[in-house]
Amino acid sequence: MELIEVIESKKLGKSLTREEIECFAHAAADPKTPDYQLSALLMAIRLQGMDARETAELTMAMAKTGDMLRPDVGGVAIDKHSTGGVGDTTTLVLVPLVAACGGRVIKMSGRGLGHTGGTIDKMESIRGLRTELSEQEAVEIVRRVGCCVAAQSGELAPADKRLYALRDVTSTVDSIPLIASSIMSKKLAMGADGIVLDIKVGGGALMRTLPEALELGRAMVEIGVRSGRRMCALITGMEEPLGSHIGNALEVKEAIDVLAGRVQGPLLEVSLLLGERMLLLAGLCASPEEGRAMLMKALRSGAGLSKLREMAEAQGGDGRVTEDTGLLPQAALSIPVTAAEDGFVQGIDALEVGLIARGLGAGRLRKEDAIDPAVGLVLHRRVGDRVKRGDTLATVYANDGRRGEEAVRALESAVRLGSESVPAPRLLYALIGEEGTELR
Ligand code: URA
Ligand code: CA
Repeated sequence: MELIEVIESKKLGKSLTREEIECFAHAAADPKTPDYQLSALLMAIRLQGMDARETAELTMAMAKTGDMLRPDVGGVAIDKHSTGGVGDTTTLVLVPLVAACGGRVIKMSGRGLGHTGGTIDKMESIRGLRTELSEQEAVEIVRRVGCCVAAQSGELAPADKRLYALRDVTSTVDSIPLIASSIMSKKLAMGADGIVLDIKVGGGALMRTLPEALELGRAMVEIGVRSGRRMCALITGMEEPLGSHIGNALEVKEAIDVLAGRVQGPLLEVSLLLGERMLLLAGLCASPEEGRAMLMKALRSGAGLSKLREMAEAQGGDGRVTEDTGLLPQAALSIPVTAAEDGFVQGIDALEVGLIARGLGAGRLRKEDAIDPAVGLVLHRRVGDRVKRGDTLATVYANDGRRGEEAVRALESAVRLGSESVPAPRLLYALIGEEGTELR
């Protein structure tokens, strides 16, 4: 079969056959296929759509263009994936907590790109910690410690690597079947038995509206179920940043503060919501309530924090940071952002805050850029809080005075004050399981 026949079918709005879909996936993984043919097909899919069967078959075909792992981690392997947010450090909170409850978590993460942070960059702010692990090393650590967070290797779903780069420059990123198959091809190749998805919705997320987020969540759950995996997706809010710390070492510090019981709030709450679903999929509890009680016990006893230390040390990192966050990289400058008037915080623009952190050096403009682990910002107020003129709203951590001042000015408009009080933003919008959707 020739790729042009597949382009022709989709151009006419036909549902692609399995053979056509496999032809597409092979072509995407073949360096000899010209970019223009793949780009034409991507645009045809973007405009004509794909049904659930096509999407699931494309996902499996893309996964099979690379290594298909079936890691023997000594129990039910559970993975978790977030579509990306700002101040979203749930992985570093819930992976050790779930492992402390007996779960086996093999987590492959990405680096930050755009305005969202990446877990791998955050982890690497712990001195000595390695994330470039071989499959064998990662599996050995999970068997011994219960969890491991490793960088995604290039051998997983190479067809996606090629297509994702093309989508970025052909205006075809915003297609639900293409997003769902892109993310899920890598998840299926990782070989987890159960996958919990955190689909972020709101101004700081890939999905801006609830209907879009629900459609993506349902598509991804269906793909996983069709491939024999246990699945669950939560739709969670991303209007204001989830945690109060934004920046790599700062987010590691916040995760440690949460695990040490010093900090509560939305980051802990979303971590518990996801963690209880992971324990359920792993068969370690009978209800979400029981799962939550197990996670809270691991938090209160310090078992979660000890697990983070064990994992960091197994990956070659200085585990003492879990006892002394002062060992993390520190910025030279800290600059307060103060309230210009009395009132209430009415909004904190997560997208803008993510871009401000990137401007300080916490994120990248291009994939090959280096990041500064120490820089970022801490928000001292959340949406709904009352403030008085002169109160410190945020602190900017910078290693360059000019960039620091720019961040302060930008934050003065990203944190919107007004005279009326507003409710705190919603955290959980919906839960998508194998049986259907539960709106909250
Ligand atoms: N993340 C991915 O890996 N793929 C997408 O298409 C979107 C987000
Ligand atoms: Ca991420």
